[in-house]
Amino acid sequence: MNQMTSDNLRSAFGGESQARTRYNIWGDVAKKDGFENVKRLFDATADAERVHATLHFKALKDESGDFIVTSNAGFGINSTSENLEAARNGELFESTQMYPAYIAVAEMQEEKEAVRAMKYATAAEQVHADRFQTAKEAVDAGKDLDVETIYLCPVCGYITFEEEESCPICGCKFSNFVEY
Ligand SMILES: [Fe+2]
Ligand SMILES: [Fe+2]
Repeated sequence: MNQMTSDNLRSAFGGESQARTRYNIWGDVAKKDGFENVKRLFDATADAERVHATLHFKALKDESGDFIVTSNAGFGINSTSENLEAARNGELFESTQMYPAYIAVAEMQEEKEAVRAMKYATAAEQVHADRFQTAKEAVDAGKDLDVETIYLCPVCGYITFEEEESCPICGCKFSNFVEY
């Protein structure tokens, strides 16, 4: 793989892996704050980031060895409202700045699997930002997120609060979605 794309994919792998852990931590905070459904959203989104990290890791399958990985990653444990805001900003950074730049490079270098992995991630992160916004509005009104089941697409990391026919991003059958 061309080095700029492999460097970018490793950085994205680092960012997704850290986001996963961070969301599990913020989910625990949400539960402590009394927002059980927000915890479920954080946990579902954590698993979505694992999907993205896995796509990137597999795209790098021919690149064995040890690397120093530098990634943009948020830190801090604050109120659930503030954690949701930070989570949303992270998703927006990834979907509007980081991935579009990385995809442009990967397309130029004709790295098809890398492009596919990062396009799935970009589209899913945009949706994650919207879901976190919905959760933040509820929490700021003093309420828990008003959802029954949260569904995760195991192929691309798309998250929805309602039953759908198939994944609008990757076409995965809804029957394969994971419930939270
Ligand atoms: Fe995300
Ligand atoms: Fe999907």
